[in-house]
Amino acid sequence: MTQSITIPSASDFHLHLRQGDMMRMVTPKVAEGGVSLAYIMPNLQPPVTKTEQALSYKEELQALAPDVTFYMTLYLSPDLTVDEVRKASKAGIAGVKSYPRGVTTNSDSGIENYEIYYPVFKAMEEEGMVLNLHGEIPSDLDNDVCVMNAEEKFLPQLEKIHRAFPNLKIVLEHATTSAAVDLVKRLGDTVACSITVHHLQLIVDDWAGQAHHFCKPVAKYPHDRQALREVVASGHPRFFLGTDSAPHPSHVKETACAHAGVFTTPLVLPYLCKIFEDIGCLDKLENFACHFGRSFYGLKQKEGFQDKKVTLVKQENVVVPATYEISSAQPQLGKVVPFLANKDVGWKIVE
Ligand code: NCD
Ligand code: DOR
Ligand code: ZN
Ligand code: ZN
Repeated sequence: MTQSITIPSASDFHLHLRQGDMMRMVTPKVAEGGVSLAYIMPNLQPPVTKTEQALSYKEELQALAPDVTFYMTLYLSPDLTVDEVRKASKAGIAGVKSYPRGVTTNSDSGIENYEIYYPVFKAMEEEGMVLNLHGEIPSDLDNDVCVMNAEEKFLPQLEKIHRAFPNLKIVLEHATTSAAVDLVKRLGDTVACSITVHHLQLIVDDWAGQAHHFCKPVAKYPHDRQALREVVASGHPRFFLGTDSAPHPSHVKETACAHAGVFTTPLVLPYLCKIFEDIGCLDKLENFACHFGRSFYGLKQKEGFQDKKVTLVKQENVVVPATYEISSAQPQLGKVVPFLANKDVGWKIVE
């Protein structure tokens, strides 16, 4: 008998949709992946630091994907004032993303000392906005800090911010370590983790020498992946989907200094079916991908999209495309290689 599952369309609580031609290619693929609510990252060039910028970006995205509900974020920087936070909140902007300086793509204007942001965090707490933390500290060779322990070494910062603002909703984005899972479980109801598709699948061996699996934070030890899988399989409501799908043209991946990012948007739910089936917890997929994130954030779908369902069937030879061309009119822009390119993902969304 054919195995199939039907669940509501999913919510992706961490998504990079870029600008320009890349944005025009990627944004229509959100719905193809089975996602109808997307929480959009602000690390554009220049970063999204103002309410007007976020709203005009949202309009562009909405025109490209009318069936998706978009929630926007601002980029935490010294430019962000308390007044701007209040204005953003009134305009429906849901959160603020913080990038530690130098650790990831376009994060040169990121931040180091969180205490200078306490007035902003206070306003966010009062407004009910969410703080989205890229939880890595910059490499520091004198202190043995590198990509493998950058997340674990960040965790005291998370705890400190939480203690100072216990009612501020905080999401530790793209968690990759068993230490992060333990800490977030221990902190209360206002602290959560987003978990990507690729971090449920990869360990360090998979990206060492394989540029298309290289992302920040990097995938870690087998026991770390196991902790992510276990917390998801346990159905913990504060661990939910945020894909961190981050497209780059292949020529900036397949090069001496590869850009960080894994592209999962076109096949989010097929990948997740495969992984959850392998872990043996397909019954936990719906809450992880559709409900837990929305209830943590308290966010609604746009009118008319609440009851949208997606059916997936298990099938052989569902081969992931080798590439996606950024613009057929401008082939020189190159192509994006998706996660598990040319592999059989084993599950397919049917209409
Ligand atoms: C670039 C873009 O605008 O498409 N990046 C970005 O917005 N962060 C290109 C890229 O890095 O893929
Ligand atoms: O791998 C990543 N790529 N991690 C991030 O946090 C940023 C992202 C990007 O924008 O390319
Ligand atoms: Zn990040
Ligand atoms: Zn990201």
